[in-house]
Amino acid sequence: MDDPLLAAPMPVLDWVSEATACITRHEHGLLRLEAVAPDILRLRFAPNGRFAAPRPWSPVLDLAPAGLSVREEDGQLWIGTERLSARINLSSGVLAFTTPEGQVFAEDLCAPGWREVSLEETRLQHLPDTELPPGEARIGVGVRKRMAPDEGYFGFGQRDGRLDRRHRRLTHWTVDRVVPGHGLGEDNLYQAQPTFMAVRPGLAWGLLLNSTWFSGFDVGREYEDVLTLFTLGGELDYYIFAGPTPAAVVEQLTRLTGRPLLPPLWALGFHQSRWSYGTDRDVRALAEGFRQRTIPLDAIHLDIDYMDGYRVFTWDHERFPEPAATVAALQALGIRTVTIVDPGVKHDLGAGYGVAEAGVAGEYFLRRADGELFSGWVWPDESLFPDFCSERTRHWWGDLHGSLIEIGVDGIWCDMNEPSIVDRPYREPGVTEYPVPLAVCQGDEGEALHAETHNLYGHLMARATWEGLERLRPERRPWVLTRSAFVGTQCWAASWMGDNSARWEDLETSLPQLASLGLCGAPHVGVDIGGFYGHSFGELYGRWIELGAFYPFMRVHAHCDSRPQEPWSFGPDIEAIARQAIELRYRLLPYFYTLAHRAHRDGEPWWRPLLFDFPDQADLYAIEDQIMIGPQMMIAPIRAHGLKRRLVERPPGCWYDFRSGARLDAGPGPLVMDAPLGAMPILVRGGSILTLGNVRQSTAEPLSELMLEIYPDDAAEGTWTLIEDDGESFAYQDGALAETDARIAPLSQGAVFTLAARRGDYQPAPRSLILRLHLPEAPAGLTLDETPVEDWRWDAELQAAEVRIVDDGQAHCLAPG
Ligand code: GLC
Repeated sequence: MDDPLLAAPMPVLDWVSEATACITRHEHGLLRLEAVAPDILRLRFAPNGRFAAPRPWSPVLDLAPAGLSVREEDGQLWIGTERLSARINLSSGVLAFTTPEGQVFAEDLCAPGWREVSLEETRLQHLPDTELPPGEARIGVGVRKRMAPDEGYFGFGQRDGRLDRRHRRLTHWTVDRVVPGHGLGEDNLYQAQPTFMAVRPGLAWGLLLNSTWFSGFDVGREYEDVLTLFTLGGELDYYIFAGPTPAAVVEQLTRLTGRPLLPPLWALGFHQSRWSYGTDRDVRALAEGFRQRTIPLDAIHLDIDYMDGYRVFTWDHERFPEPAATVAALQALGIRTVTIVDPGVKHDLGAGYGVAEAGVAGEYFLRRADGELFSGWVWPDESLFPDFCSERTRHWWGDLHGSLIEIGVDGIWCDMNEPSIVDRPYREPGVTEYPVPLAVCQGDEGEALHAETHNLYGHLMARATWEGLERLRPERRPWVLTRSAFVGTQCWAASWMGDNSARWEDLETSLPQLASLGLCGAPHVGVDIGGFYGHSFGELYGRWIELGAFYPFMRVHAHCDSRPQEPWSFGPDIEAIARQAIELRYRLLPYFYTLAHRAHRDGEPWWRPLLFDFPDQADLYAIEDQIMIGPQMMIAPIRAHGLKRRLVERPPGCWYDFRSGARLDAGPGPLVMDAPLGAMPILVRGGSILTLGNVRQSTAEPLSELMLEIYPDDAAEGTWTLIEDDGESFAYQDGALAETDARIAPLSQGAVFTLAARRGDYQPAPRSLILRLHLPEAPAGLTLDETPVEDWRWDAELQAAEVRIVDDGQAHCLAPG
């Protein structure tokens, strides 16, 4: 689809305004602008004058629309709210958006255009169809926008390559990545998120292309500084987010597509996985291996071999004669069990496999356009595929998880849900991908072609799973992991990036990849630590696990032919490094769990690029090898063999070294920081109040100690609110939360620390509170609540004054001097 879809001018023939929308009529088509919220405008252009019907499975939510004012002036139509406006040139139909201050952005270069498109032009590979189905599936619609030269373009979903996506052509079509390795490669991956943000000093704005069809963005690749949006489906439909900061854009995007779920606390712990731990004995030995070596662990994942011939919702009773007893044995050690579930149901009819039979009887599987059941090959050989666009099917599928819940399984891992299908059994040579034909009809009313719903397959499988778990076990928050996803999947599942490789390149690419997803509203993400394909090695594994301790989802996973990747598989030195990294993860859990709550409240990603916190520093936009972990920490990972130190850019403000506790030199330019294996640089921003806990072997153990590491800034006050709850139920929605506000005055004002009384109905277990105030030099004394403290110590190494008290939930004030 290289042809620009360039359109001739499209004068406005007339227009009508409604309370929340304005419609302009053109010789060809209608354009509709709607204020779905004061800071979100929706633009739709239908060349045939008919807007598509709402889809019951759309990932976009209905918000309360805002009032819109419309006026005609100087040959332009001005349409807007107090936060965001659009102006349409009446003679050309060209449109631009403006801020309340009159700053122009996302400005069209021409009116939208459309034309019939061939399958070949989409460059979609491995499709059995030789033509796109007739009708809207063939109509490509697009528009071109000016890219401001000082704008960076970020987000764009799961991708390889650089953080700033200028000069890339990015399309949206979920695929299984069959070629090992991430690095720079094909455009499409397992997930599709047709959304991005553009950031320049003073303004960040966002766009969501509201299309589940094959679509794409050309980000100045075809023409310098020209952004092309295009989609199949016969209608251009997109949302513009007013920003004006990256955080505001993510808030607006997740208001529209749903806030990220709040994971149970255990899901933030360490997960160990492998394809596959073969028998229940192996699994128990693995769990005991962790406990004997005192390496914290919260979850073990069971890959496909637990099933009977890869039949989903069954167990191989030779390998796992008593699954419930095995799961209970793990539970007794504080370890949860996560089982994989693939969408392909073995085509095993008349042989007593209830899932396949019920699926056919209930009409839950996809059928070809000619009415025949659609089948393709996956692990269990010939398989049938549920139609997750159907609400009935989702309900049935969700309920099937009852058998796993009864056994005590805690989490579900949805895999192969792009969906990944091949044309013959895997063991046969020459296997090629064979996707669902585009003309297959989906939905309870058969309302949509697979051409329209393909990108939602994994998203809706994850949703069906989450909703099923919630029905089956309403007292606990479900936890679902998915490989394929779309915008909105953040409501239902965490995701991992699929089959990477044990290579430095794949460690490196995880940094911008996960950061991009955070900008797309998906905060709970991670990659296979150690690498999936290929044999990992000690140095890579050590570097990856020290980095992985900061991934929002932390799991080690490996291919069946790869060498073992348990923390002790690479000898005692690497084992010690892995233990330390995992222990640090557990110490940071009170901070990370607060970040998960913040993500749940307004979408704020906790693994994020520097531009998220420093959007006015254009010189930081390109930095993708340093990552902010929430607003308080910054990591600088090591991405290559043999490095023992690295340069670290310092964004504005004062910074501390997390390991030494010391303030970093304030001189100009990047810092050189030591980074021996196991100790990549970790920095803390001045004004931070980091909350750490004691090391636990699993989150099932209560927190006995809460440590507040306090880092005053030179000039600015710092504030933080620790958020806690029971970590497991939905009671937090009814106020069973504990929120603790803390404040640190700047050094220039004496670095006085105040802690407010705990708010909310949740009562943490009894614990001690350690206050550690980092100061340039030892103070003469300390007062706590205006009384001199006798029992405090100055830790010269960490440059911190430390006091230990009982956490009584009351307000306290700690002052040096
Ligand atoms: C896919 C998954 C991988 C899993 C394997 C076997 O390749 O991405 O994580 O181990 O299937 O189930």
